[in-house]
This record gives sequence, structure tokens and C-alpha cells, in this order.
Amino acid sequence: MAARVTLLLAILVVLPFPSHCADPDPLQDFCVAILNSTSTSLNGFPCKPASEVTSEDFFFDGFTKEGNTDNALGFSPTFGNVLSFPGLNTLGIAMNRVDYAPGGLNPPHSHPRATESGVVIKGKLFVGFLTTNNVLYSKVLTVGQMFVVPRGLVHFQMNVGKEKAMTITAFNSHLPGAVILANTLFGSNPPIPDDVLTKAFQVEASVIDGIKAKFGA
Ligand code: GLV
Ligand code: MN
Repeated sequence: MAARVTLLLAILVVLPFPSHCADPDPLQDFCVAILNSTSTSLNGFPCKPASEVTSEDFFFDGFTKEGNTDNALGFSPTFGNVLSFPGLNTLGIAMNRVDYAPGGLNPPHSHPRATESGVVIKGKLFVGFLTTNNVLYSKVLTVGQMFVVPRGLVHFQMNVGKEKAMTITAFNSHLPGAVILANTLFGSNPPIPDDVLTKAFQVEASVIDGIKAKFGA
């Protein structure tokens, strides 16, 4: 009997959390984040007192400028998440602007806390994601076309046009997080031991060390 009551209580505790949502629902109109609070630690960020909130807290001009794509990958993400736009705190959404030089690549990565959708604003992009069964779904997209990447799945975008490209992406989390596979595996701190990676990738340590050197590990 006690076990049944415990089970029932456990089910009742879990029921209010909708399983389809990424971030939990907000419990108030807004909760402008205090990003640097040291006194309170919780799942999200504490709220600025409502009396100190102004219009400026709900507007963000980070996407007005093109990102600098002069780097090894030829791409530049600008993040409109709770860390750059604290007004998003607890609202369960975020956006990115991503700029691409010709040939630029947003390398294979995943967002552990969000599904991503995106639209091509400029240029021509090869967009793809992989399922947990290693099936690749991909397509070349041009201006105005949209894509979706289910939560947590590995994906990439490459500029396959002759001109610059740009996307705006949207997420159902105020902080989607990004696991960039190459950086995670070859640039972690401390580094993953070589014998883990040589076995995983079935190559010699020299190959692993060569890749690690590029990612600073
Ligand atoms: C694109 O994949 C992005 O994360 O903005
Ligand atoms: Mn992404």
C-alpha cells in the first residue's frame, strides 16, 4: 500500500511538466535575467526587480551587423540567447544570426536543450541533420526557404553559393547550448586521453594528436 501511495505521489509530481516542451513554462509575465547573481543559484537566472525593468530589456540589436567570417571555418554566429538578451530569461525562446563567407561551414554540432528552425535570408546553403540511426537528411536551400533540426540531433550548414550567406535560426529554449563535435572531442579541457580517441576512431595516436593540435588540446 505504502509503495502504491509513493508511486501515485511520484506520478502527481511529474504530471504538471509537459513532455513536449523544451524549457519549462514561465510563471509570470517576464523575468529579466540578472546574469551575475552570486547569491542565488537556480534553474535559469533570477529576475531583476520589476521596478528596475525598462523597455530596453525587451529589445536587442545584436543582429543588425554582419558577423566577421574571417576565420578557419568562414562562418560567424551571433547569439540572441538569455546571455546576450536577458529579457529572454524563462521565456523558452532564443535566436541566432549566422553569417557565412563563400564556402563557409557551421560545423557539425547539436543543441541539447532545443529544437532549431531556421530561414535562409541571403545566399545558398547546404543544410543537413543526422538521426540517431545515422541517416542524413539534407537539402540545398535558397533565400526564403526554411529548415528544422529536431532537438539534440547533429546538424551543419555550408555555404555552397558564390556569394555570402546568412540565416536566422530560432530555438525553443532561452539557452539552447551547443555541442560542437570537433571541439568537444578534440579540444576539451582536460583533453580526452589519446587511447580513448584512437580506439573510438580506429586510427593511430599521431592522427589524434594532429587533430588535437588544431583545437588547442
Ligand atoms: C545553426 O545551426 C545555429 O545553431 O544557429
Ligand atoms: Mn544549430
